[in-house]
Amino acid sequence: MEISYCLKARAKRRLEPFKPEQTLPFGQLRTDHMFMMDFDGNEWYGIKICPYQDINIAPGAIALHYGQAYFEGAKAFMHPDGEIYTFRLDKNAERANFSAEILCMPKVDVEFQIKAIHALIDVDRNWFPLQEGASLYIRPFMFGTSDSLGVHPSESYRYMVILSPSGPYYPTGFTKPIRLLITQKFHRAVSGGTGAAKAAGNYAASLRAGQFAKKFGASQVLYLDANNQYIEEAGAMNHFHITKDGTVFIPEFTDTILKSITSLSMIELLPSLGFKVVQKRIELAEFIDGVKSGDIVEAGGFGTAAVVSPVGEYVFEDGSVLKVGNGEIGEMTKKIYKAYTDIQYGRSKAPDGWLRKV
Ligand code: PLP
Ligand code: COI
Repeated sequence: MEISYCLKARAKRRLEPFKPEQTLPFGQLRTDHMFMMDFDGNEWYGIKICPYQDINIAPGAIALHYGQAYFEGAKAFMHPDGEIYTFRLDKNAERANFSAEILCMPKVDVEFQIKAIHALIDVDRNWFPLQEGASLYIRPFMFGTSDSLGVHPSESYRYMVILSPSGPYYPTGFTKPIRLLITQKFHRAVSGGTGAAKAAGNYAASLRAGQFAKKFGASQVLYLDANNQYIEEAGAMNHFHITKDGTVFIPEFTDTILKSITSLSMIELLPSLGFKVVQKRIELAEFIDGVKSGDIVEAGGFGTAAVVSPVGEYVFEDGSVLKVGNGEIGEMTKKIYKAYTDIQYGRSKAPDGWLRKV
């Protein structure tokens, strides 16, 4: 599949309004171009990189009515050698195809997804943000475009990639731990549903819970399973906690939890930093007891946008608060964050295959 180009005049550096010392917002800025292609039920066509612009979509498109859409989130980093490297895009591309399978959508060859994303970044490389802690956020997505009101999979699809020079997902970055709401009122996913896919609808369903969380001063809900027995994950990141003996617990990847690429990377990386990693179903009651007894000393979230986001406390619907350790960012979380971001930003050697030069 060949990519055709229809480019704007090459961009000069486009981040002048943001000074190097400023923190960039997450997901607000766009680069000059986007990638797109269409599927006609048989093959992909119209494969191109073109100026970022509004798109035409039939008012009856399946995605608009029945939410047949997925998205991905990945990042590229500028290394000290001045080159741009994408982080584990193969894993995102594989997960995109997993989401496609769950949502009855066509798959896209993994290497082609990477080629398309690299070609787009190459065209817009002048947009690369140089702010401390910033990166180029990559957002691939696909949606059903057939103009048809019956509830069935779309015949035609569009696959696109847009880029966003971004700062940290939580405005406080890594400087301040966040608070999560534990509630039985909302659930993110049920077994047999779409929880393990990056289905757009999962995020639509999380919006009300997110607003509810804000009332408690929490950034997100920490979702429980449908029986309110196990900890699952937060709205935009997997959950982890660390016991005082240095064991990092990550909830098992059931079919209601997104298989986070950050978590997968941590499972590979953390043993080399002296941590033991355990993946299992985490009983809420055990977790609460562990925090209260002081056995669980640190907690947080893993995600591409969230990176490693320390959680200082959990709030419940009755207003009671469960503080983890002293509520500050713990030394073990700091060590994990540093090791992970050192790899991403090219300050230390990455495990084989984690980074690819654009
Ligand atoms: N869980 C949910 C629901 C998410 O939206 C995300 C973000 O992508 C994650 C977990 C973290 O996954 P990853 O590390 O692949 O970004
Ligand atoms: C990501 O971390 O890339 C995500 O997709 C989270 C998102 C909902 C902002």
